Amino acid sequence: MSQSRYDIPLLRGPVPLTHLLLRRFVRPGDRVVDATCGNGKDTLLLADLVGENGQVWAFDIQAEALARTQQRLLEAGLAGRVTLLDLNHIELASQVPAPVTAVIFNLGWLPGGDRSVVTGPDSTLPALQGALQLLTPGGLLLITCYPGHEQGAVETDAVLQWSSSLAAPLFHVWRLGQQNVSASAPFCLLVQKTVSGHAA
Ligand SMILES: C[S@@+](CC[C@H](N)C(=O)[O-])C[C@H]1O[C@@H](n2cnc3c(N)ncnc32)[C@H](O)[C@@H]1O
Repeated sequence: MSQSRYDIPLLRGPVPLTHLLLRRFVRPGDRVVDATCGNGKDTLLLADLVGENGQVWAFDIQAEALARTQQRLLEAGLAGRVTLLDLNHIELASQVPAPVTAVIFNLGWLPGGDRSVVTGPDSTLPALQGALQLLTPGGLLLITCYPGHEQGAVETDAVLQWSSSLAAPLFHVWRLGQQNVSASAPFCLLVQKTVSGHAA
């Protein structure tokens, strides 16, 4: 996350905002999931936050993404805390034991990679639903959406519709987007499972 000269995180775009939230919610010993590990930046932060007794599960369908993430983790000495899965995140609920504190989806394509391999609603929506099952009460699901390209716009519409349909007493759903940028700029959706959401 870029820092101002006073060591304050600069909130340019949704990714630093998701990192700020993860820093507040994820504690040592927690179990967490990165549903789209890509270049591994989110996975690395999660591996740091869960500490030596925590566990991270990180999914991607591209070998290149998994290799980049593994390299980043090895360089930081944190690879032992992360289970890297060469799997579609549709498998999330069957691969990860509940409960988890946070699940992050950074949708779209691999930055600096093959843009034809991109997340899409057919797998994203069931994967999000699976993530909700895993969350502990108070746990967070963070989704970064990219409406600025054609497939991303279709996926964003589907994710917005899905998130709006979540019952208010069971989940707190927030849309966090920078206001003074293009209307098609990326933004973040936050879903927090409530205690009643856990019991339902
Ligand atoms: C925007 S990148 C993720 C960025 C990453 N979190 C980071 O910190 O660098 C999106 C990733 O999603 C992956 N992806 C696309 N469809 C997927 C699926 N169905 N299951 C898991 N990963 C998928 C892509 O291969 C790509 O690496």
